[in-house]
Amino acid sequence: MAFRFPNDFLWGGATAANQIEGSNTTDGKGLSTSDVQPFGSFGELIPRHGGDFNIKDIAIDFYHRYPEDIKLMSEMGFSCFRLSIAWSRIFPQGDELQPNDAGLAYYDKIFDELRKYNITPLVTLSHYEMPLYLAEHYQGWTSRDVIAFFERYARVVFQRYGDRVKHWLTFNEINVTLHEPFTGSGVPRGSSPQQLYQAIHHQLVASAKAVKACHEMVPNAQIGNMMLGAIQYPLTSHPDDVFEALERNRDWLFFGDVQARGYYPSYMKRKFRELSITLNITEDDVQSLKETIDFVSFSYYMTGCVTTQKTNMTMMDESMFKMGGNPYLESTDWGWQIDPKGLRIVLNELYDRYQKPLFIVENGLGAVDVPNENGDIEDNYRIQYLNDHLYQVGEALQDGVEIMGYTSWGPIDLVSASTAQMSKRYGFIHVDRDDQGNGSLARKPKKSFYWYKDIIESQGEGLVAPKQ
Ligand code: BG6
Repeated sequence: MAFRFPNDFLWGGATAANQIEGSNTTDGKGLSTSDVQPFGSFGELIPRHGGDFNIKDIAIDFYHRYPEDIKLMSEMGFSCFRLSIAWSRIFPQGDELQPNDAGLAYYDKIFDELRKYNITPLVTLSHYEMPLYLAEHYQGWTSRDVIAFFERYARVVFQRYGDRVKHWLTFNEINVTLHEPFTGSGVPRGSSPQQLYQAIHHQLVASAKAVKACHEMVPNAQIGNMMLGAIQYPLTSHPDDVFEALERNRDWLFFGDVQARGYYPSYMKRKFRELSITLNITEDDVQSLKETIDFVSFSYYMTGCVTTQKTNMTMMDESMFKMGGNPYLESTDWGWQIDPKGLRIVLNELYDRYQKPLFIVENGLGAVDVPNENGDIEDNYRIQYLNDHLYQVGEALQDGVEIMGYTSWGPIDLVSASTAQMSKRYGFIHVDRDDQGNGSLARKPKKSFYWYKDIIESQGEGLVAPKQ
């Protein structure tokens, strides 16, 4: 039976500044942690030298081409566009007292353009980057000083854009700091668990301070967190596997538990004891953490399995997390297991746990697109993937889960975060650029563009039940 999503459900797509904008030293912008990772967030860190090729220097040139891109999103019927502000455009070093006017003026133009089309911006304050200077001189979030720098930045952007931006997110995939500490958090790779969790604590406090500032300064706004929602299943029904899965899921749910409840969950006491971690938590930190998020947001790409048994479990994607393969699931070209039903599971779990509205702010299929003889991209595989996931969102809505919206990842082809490839494409809109940087940057709708337009227009009624 066809199901109609609620009228106020936000439909759209999601991006990050460093994966689309390019122009990463234009108008006074400082370098960010992303700018020294030309091979992606799991690649080497390479200091910038003039003339070195880095695909992100131009990315898809959203910096200049945003009017065309936003127009195309509007043609698809987007009611929401998720983007991030590059912190280093506003505070090039990160520790200045005054912001960079040219950086502020740039995002004015973006938000004005979105308003023109009645598209609600959903803005991430920090998406897998921070000013490089903070990483080099403060070891990123290792330093408590960064809390104040981030709060200053957040207050500046709330003040400036609060009239037009009513939906905010603090840190993108905050739980990934555990697995890749440098990209989003500027924390040196190889840091000890003690250093890592102290840096994470600083980020959690900063997130809560941003929530407080947002509540004070933009009273009619809503601000959420953002986690990578990669749920793990027990591979077998052995109780040890079930408990192992519970613990692995706590690794990421811990972040939401603090951000949504306002204090550290009790299960962390044992973990910290076993890892010999003693955190420096001040009374001011305890008070700050009490300011909780309004909604919970997450990305969803895959699920994995864990086991304590001596089995032949294959590992799925070593670079991301140590996730085990699931014999019932197929994988993408990049080895990410496709699990639409898992999205319904995550939605139900998170809603049961937090009783706060949820927002799916990333989901999508990274695939190689090959144009047909007419030069068109018939991305039926992407349509299938998105249909099957959105169908489960519809099921979750019918389960009673409160869901604010869905922004698919990379509505327009962009640079991959983990591998810095252009060829790992997620878009409804093709961008003519390859991994070596060749191409005209011209935009062209794919078949999925028209499919998504129809789904949005029908409020989800056009989704079809996945084949069993
Ligand atoms: C999420 C990130 O982890 O996954 C995005 O928030 C990223 O920045 C997306 O692009 C997809 O990952 P990738 O590596 O395919 O770009």
